[in-house]
Amino acid sequence: MMRVARTYRHLVAASGAMLATGLLAKKQLSTSDCAATTWPGDSTNYGPGSLSGCTMVVFGGSSGIGLATAILAAKQGANQITIVGRNEERLTSAVKEIKSAATSQTCTVSSASVDVTDEAKVQQFASTFEDGSVDHLVTTPGGSARLGNLIANNRSCDDVRRQFNLKYFAQLAPVLAMSEKIKDHGSITMVSGILSRRTGRGNDALAVSNAAIETTVRCLANDFGFDGRQVRVNCLSPGMTLTPVYGDSDWVKDYQHRSAAAVPLQRNGKPEEMAHAIAFLQTNLFVTGITIDVDGGNVIKP
Ligand SMILES: NC(=O)c1ccc[n+]([C@@H]2O[C@H](COP(=O)([O-])OP(=O)(O)OC[C@H]3O[C@@H](n4cnc5c(N)ncnc54)[C@H](OP(=O)(O)O)[C@@H]3O)[C@@H](O)[C@H]2O)c1
Repeated sequence: MMRVARTYRHLVAASGAMLATGLLAKKQLSTSDCAATTWPGDSTNYGPGSLSGCTMVVFGGSSGIGLATAILAAKQGANQITIVGRNEERLTSAVKEIKSAATSQTCTVSSASVDVTDEAKVQQFASTFEDGSVDHLVTTPGGSARLGNLIANNRSCDDVRRQFNLKYFAQLAPVLAMSEKIKDHGSITMVSGILSRRTGRGNDALAVSNAAIETTVRCLANDFGFDGRQVRVNCLSPGMTLTPVYGDSDWVKDYQHRSAAAVPLQRNGKPEEMAHAIAFLQTNLFVTGITIDVDGGNVIKP
């Protein structure tokens, strides 16, 4: 397939909490040979797409599930990967790790420091991409506002909005800002979490934020599907996964031990297992609007 070289401008990072936008780098961006977005192609080919040659943007790509997703894409021959987070050091180290996993000689890996809770900054970042230049968008950012049970803790709507900013809007902002940048037949994958279906009694507003992501995915899958662009939109719902998000205090170790014992597969998940599921969602061309549970059986336990 013909490659058309384009130049694009990249936003760059910040000092301290402030994001300094600017033209720090000019890079070559090629239209990709990604099989996932060259569909329908050969009408006899009903097999899976491939990440080979694709361009991917991973919000939250400097750690945990997002980093594992970027590394897997690099291993599978992605041609251009951009990761987004806030912390510069983590971004730099992640870029190195992703680059060293790349199997394509021409794979470029870059990063941008953007706080996804600042929608204007996310839009500014998105504006540095050409329309229709991204095969796959992944959004993983999401923190807990630690509100606990809403009634017992006498929480307000403002408290819940804080949680929505940290998880729901943190992923919705990149999806809305990047929507025109995604190629026809490309994909969007958002990340919710086990709490949406196993709500428990300890983090109500995060459970609701996760559910909002899953419902948004269904709405957008309809919108993109019928509007002719056929961008596929899906969601990964992880169970307890061993990522840096939890730290390694004794309390955390005990909590993770109990979480493992409470699911049928008797262990916690690995970021690589989450990345594997995201790659499935990106490359199975007949999947849209779904949430896939990768949780050791948590959802179905008695
Ligand atoms: N790990 C689990 O057990 C588990 C279970 C269920 C659901 N999940 C969900 O899975 C997703 C990923 O979790 P993870 O365990 O991979 O977490 P992680 O290791 O902490 O990674 C989170 C990533 O998101 C970025 N990020 C967070 N807030 C951001 C912001 N405001 N702006 C820009 N980037 C931001 C982080 O970079 P910076 O901090 O540098 O910004 C980092 O790259 C989350 O939505 C989480 O709720 C995780």
